[in-house]
Order: sequence, then C-alpha cells, then structure tokens
Amino acid sequence: MAYNFEFYAPTKVIFGKNTEDEIGKQAKAFGASSVLVVYGGGSAKRSGLLEKVEASLSAQSIAFRELGGIVPNPRLDKVREGIRMGKEHNVDFLLAVGGGSAIDTAKAIAYGLAEPEYDVWELFAHTRTARKCLPVASVLTIAAAGSETSRGCVITNEHTGEKRVYDDNLARPRFTVMNPEYTKTLPDYQTESGCVDIMMHTMERYFTNGGNMEITDALAEGLLRTVMKNAVKLHHQPGNYEARSEIMWAGSLAHNDLTGCGNDGGDFMSHKLEHELGGMFDVTHGAGLAAIWPSWARYVCRECLPRFVRYARNVMGIAIAGTDEEIAEAGIRAMEDFYHSIGMPVNLDELGVHPTGRQIEEMAERCMAACGNHTGSAKKLTLEDMIHIYTNAAKSR
Ligand code: NZQ
Ligand code: ZN
Repeated sequence: MAYNFEFYAPTKVIFGKNTEDEIGKQAKAFGASSVLVVYGGGSAKRSGLLEKVEASLSAQSIAFRELGGIVPNPRLDKVREGIRMGKEHNVDFLLAVGGGSAIDTAKAIAYGLAEPEYDVWELFAHTRTARKCLPVASVLTIAAAGSETSRGCVITNEHTGEKRVYDDNLARPRFTVMNPEYTKTLPDYQTESGCVDIMMHTMERYFTNGGNMEITDALAEGLLRTVMKNAVKLHHQPGNYEARSEIMWAGSLAHNDLTGCGNDGGDFMSHKLEHELGGMFDVTHGAGLAAIWPSWARYVCRECLPRFVRYARNVMGIAIAGTDEEIAEAGIRAMEDFYHSIGMPVNLDELGVHPTGRQIEEMAERCMAACGNHTGSAKKLTLEDMIHIYTNAAKSR
C-alpha cells in the first residue's frame, strides 16, 4: 500500500548545450547581487567553464568572489573559510560550479551565513535544526550525488573523521545549469562512480519493507535500466553526448525524491555504511557504495525477499526458475558482474581499503551513532549487523 507523501522539487533545471550562458540572468532573476562562486580542484578552470560563469555574472553586473580548492569528501574547515569570506563581502547568493562536493560546501556556507550566531557543525551533529539558509544554485559538472536538486548536504569534519549528512528543504538549490558537454572531461573512474551513486540513490528507496507504489517502482526500474545501459556506453565511448545526457538527468531524478514517493523514506544503510568509509579512508563515494552493496544485499535479502526477486527480474533481467532465494542471489551476482564491467569494485579489497578489526568496529559504532532511530528498512541493522556487513565486504570473494 502507498504511504502518504509530500513531493517538493523546487529546483529550476536548465539543461543542454550552451546553457551556461544563462547563469547570470538566472542568478539575477533569483535575486543575487553578491555571489560566492564555489569550485573544486581545478577541472572547472581547465575546461574554461569558470571563466564563462564569471563573464555571465559580470554581464548582469553581479559582484562575485571565488572560493576554490574544494576536495571530494568536502571539509568543514573550507566551509568555515567560506563563511568568513561571505561575511566579509556581504555575500547573498552561493553558486557552486562542480559536483556534490562543491554544491554541498556551498549549501553549508549558505546555512552558516544565514545564521551566523551558531556553529554550522551543529547541524551535521544534529544538535539543532536550521531555520534559514541563503539561496544556492549550481552549474553541474559531474552526474553523481544529485545535490543539484536534493535536500542533502554532506560534510566531513577532518578533525574527527566524521562524515555527516544534514537534510533540509531549505538548501534545495534555486536553479541548476546542466550542460552534459562539460562532463566529457571526467576520468572514467569518476563517471562510473557517479553512475553507481545514481543507481544507489534509487536502490536505497527501492529495497524497503514499507509502502510501495507501482508507478514509483516503474520509474525506479526504468531509471536503473537506463543508467546501466548508458554507464556501459560511457565506459567505452566517454565522448557520447546522448549517453552523458541520459546519465546527467537520471542523476537529478534519482535524488530529488521522485523514486521514493509512497514508500517509508527508504533504507539508506549502504550510504550510511559508506559515509564512514569516506570519513576514515577518504574513498570516492560511488566506488565505496559499489564495494559495500553486495555484502549489505546478501546480509539483508532474506528480510526483504519480494523486493530482491522483483529487482532480479525487472532490473537485472534474471529469467531462471528457482526458489526466491536463488533468484535474489542471481540478481546480486548480476549486479556484481555489472559493476565489474564498468571498472567498479565489489568489495573493500578491490576498493583498495583494508580495515583492521578495530577500524571496522569503530566505523560500525560511528555509523550506529550517526543513524539515530533510522537503521534501515530492508532490515533494521544492529551494531553487530553492521560489523558483519563490513567484515563480509572486507573478504574478497
Ligand atoms: O575538484 P575538481 O577539479 O572539480 O575535480 C573533481 C573531483 O576530483 C572531478 N570532476 C568533477 N567534474 C569534473 C571533474 N573532473 C573532470 N571534469 C569534470 N567535468 O570529480 C571529482 C569528484 O567530484 P565531487 O564533487 O566530489 O563528486 P560527486 O558529485 O560524486 O560528489 C561527492 C560528494 O557528494 C556527497 C558524497 O558523499 C561526496 O562527499 N553526496 C552528497 C549528496 C547530497 N548532497 O544530496 C548525496 C550523495 O549520496 C552523496 O553522499
Ligand atoms: Zn550517494
């Protein structure tokens, strides 16, 4: 039965070739007069995109400052630096040029500037909720995290090794400009990690034990099949614009909550387990998810068997006869084969991470603490379950 839901996806999407020319006009229409442009380690500079963004802002007489050097698994200190700059220059609008890391940094700065009397980390530590946030927008250069339309914001406290999420509709971007051409410069590993992340945002909402709708399942299954097909294409033809477009739009739809309407909010334990890996070992988020998912799936599938069978049949195309357990296992194996086919890992060894027993316990303890009351939907996990999932993921098959 479908659960009640609210669907809120306010982000204006400007998609396609040359859309970066629109940035200044859009920013002006959304009230920007002093912009902080947030970007990463240099890809946006090298491609010439940053220069175009700034020319587009200047053409509308919008003042701007730059904050570059955002790293993957973006850090709290950089957020604090952005808040300081924003205060100094009366910034009233945040524009991220990049992927999830630049966008999440921009969101966190936007929270910090809107309520300067508080420490921004309190949001991520879940000791308070935000009442305000400055407007945020993005120019997306990698299809992956979905932050361009999501309410999520993920920041790593480099002093404690905690990678934490703060979810709030206040930070949903006002607009996002997406030109798939700019994703052609991505290294294959980043393209494919992004494809895994997009799939996982859909799968986290699919493997649930509460509330289902046929229309939501059909959207999710169609999205997953489309991403798989185009992820394989891009592995062999990275310059394929059509495939880049499919993946880029899928990334936004996968995490704007569309594929979760009518369910119980999703499972999200693969994500939470991966965030601890990111906090401790600084791994690429999508690749970390690929390395955790098979272990999670085998551990929980008996508790959520109808969904795993449906997934095997409708997404992975498993046509064999057999018990539900055999069909579910065939689906998980097919998923591993798919990950391998696009150069992704299926366990921690292949990810290049070799945690000690103590590190596994520590990740599980931190994950448990970060989860609050929500420890899954396919199966509610205990601390021991988390330790088993990490331990099984650490064994290569
Ligand atoms: O820093 P630059 O030089 O730009 O290089 C980046 C970075 O090294 C590179 N890149 C991006 N666009 C490029 C490019 N290289 C060449 N050409 C381009 N066009 O790709 C690398 C990864 O960038 P990043 O922004 O980190 O990628 P992604 O979008 O995967 O973001 C990952 C972060 O988002 C969080 C993840 O946990 C991670 O911290 N997430 C955020 C979510 C949200 N806010 O809703 C949800 C997700 O589940 C996720 O947790
Ligand atoms: Zn993700």
